[in-house]
Amino acid sequence: MSKTLLNNLPSFTKARRRYPSIVQNLKIEVPSIVSAKLSGKFFLIKTFGCQANVRDEESMAGFLIMANMRRTEEEKDASVIIINTCAVREGAEQKIFGQVGNLKGLKTNNKDLIVIVAGCVVQQEESLAKLRKTFPYVDIFMGTNAIHKLLDLIALRITEDKKVVDVPSDDVDVYENIPVQRIAPHKAFVNITYGCDKFCTYCIVPYTRGKERSRLPADILRECQILVDSGYQEITLVGQNVNAYGIDLKDGTTFSYILEEVAKLGIPRLRFITSHPWNFDDEMIDIIAKYPNIMRKIHLPLQSGSDEILKLMGRRYTVKDYLELVTKLRARMPDISLTTDIIVGFPNETEQQFLETLKVVEKVNYENAYTFIYSPRKGTPAALMEDNVSREEKGERFNKLKALVDSQTEANAALYVGNEYLILVDGYSKKDTSVLSGYTESDRVVHFVGTPDLIGKIVKVKITESRVYSFVGELVNE
Ligand code: 5AD
Ligand code: SF4
Repeated sequence: MSKTLLNNLPSFTKARRRYPSIVQNLKIEVPSIVSAKLSGKFFLIKTFGCQANVRDEESMAGFLIMANMRRTEEEKDASVIIINTCAVREGAEQKIFGQVGNLKGLKTNNKDLIVIVAGCVVQQEESLAKLRKTFPYVDIFMGTNAIHKLLDLIALRITEDKKVVDVPSDDVDVYENIPVQRIAPHKAFVNITYGCDKFCTYCIVPYTRGKERSRLPADILRECQILVDSGYQEITLVGQNVNAYGIDLKDGTTFSYILEEVAKLGIPRLRFITSHPWNFDDEMIDIIAKYPNIMRKIHLPLQSGSDEILKLMGRRYTVKDYLELVTKLRARMPDISLTTDIIVGFPNETEQQFLETLKVVEKVNYENAYTFIYSPRKGTPAALMEDNVSREEKGERFNKLKALVDSQTEANAALYVGNEYLILVDGYSKKDTSVLSGYTESDRVVHFVGTPDLIGKIVKVKITESRVYSFVGELVNE
């Protein structure tokens, strides 16, 4: 068995620290050995988890396309396979072990295949050790902040004939000039911050993605201008915590500033994820209300409707603060669509505290909510808390919350029927190629009959039927 080159190993001790960041403007060259071995061949990337991972996939694809590789969806055709992992809950992490396990046969049949495991799971000391032990055939383990090194790591793997591990926990620089191969032709994700400094007590992200750091406004605006100039219809600004944008730049730059500047570039649709209710200030509400191209759809994670639990979670807002924010948003923009994330079964959550969550959900009436059972993540403070709530109880609470959320989602979806909405046409429906599909301003998917020339355009559609998580409509000819 070949040896392993350990460039960097992850460390939670290092990941907890907040080192200063530097913006690095990269000059990327494709190593000649990578061109020689991989030019014209295929790569496949399987991504799990959040938008940050999806955007990372686009960068990794950008590098591989620079090396003249082509994308495939067929494992058997691929010379490079990347599994881009998510660690936010135990279930997500288990899925990764299954995925990597499935590649053993391919690797046995094709010794030249390069298998790479990237993303948040490898940033955890124990998970990486377990992955390395269980899957000795993986060629490269690379961390969330090693993406800019992808081609160099592949070159190392080929020239040294060693496995490579490069998972730094202390590299918090911001890398610019990274190539990108966008997944969607009309919609683009643009990172504004990386990492997270909130340290919610249940969450692994501040350890796996490191320090919260903002890209410089000029770099963000340059990327967005290129998108506008090349005809993109939608930009989503991405960060674990978009409203913390600019804090680390320490020059007064705010999220409101960058949001307004991007809106002014004239992109037809502008979105942002994810907002933290804690630093969602009035100026942000003003900007969203002022620009019609900022979509009136906000994902506003509640997590719990109990003040005691919110405190234990380290969320830094009370239920009253949250509800006041919702009231303000709805007062300014009555048509705003709100979605949320909620965790049930945080350690020692009482039945009463759970009922308080149900009460807040009833009050807010979300368009949709993502619900989760608390999953202890090793290395986080909550994982050390003793827990007196049984699995069964957590499951029952989850089902009750889900039933309430589903009934709201269904009732809110029914309100769309009979009304007309502007739809950004994405492409053909997955199920039926004679049917187009697109998204409302509130980000709901609609299927309708139309001609292919409408793809990439914004058209008016009348909703005729709700299927709760999607709609059927007819094109309105104007
Ligand atoms: N257990 C359950 N859910 C979690 N989330 C984050 N960490 C955990 C955890 N340890 C949920 C939060 C977050 C969403 C992306 O995932 O609700 O907003
Ligand atoms: Fe995790 Fe909280 Fe940061 Fe969101 S804000 S990524 S839940 S630590």
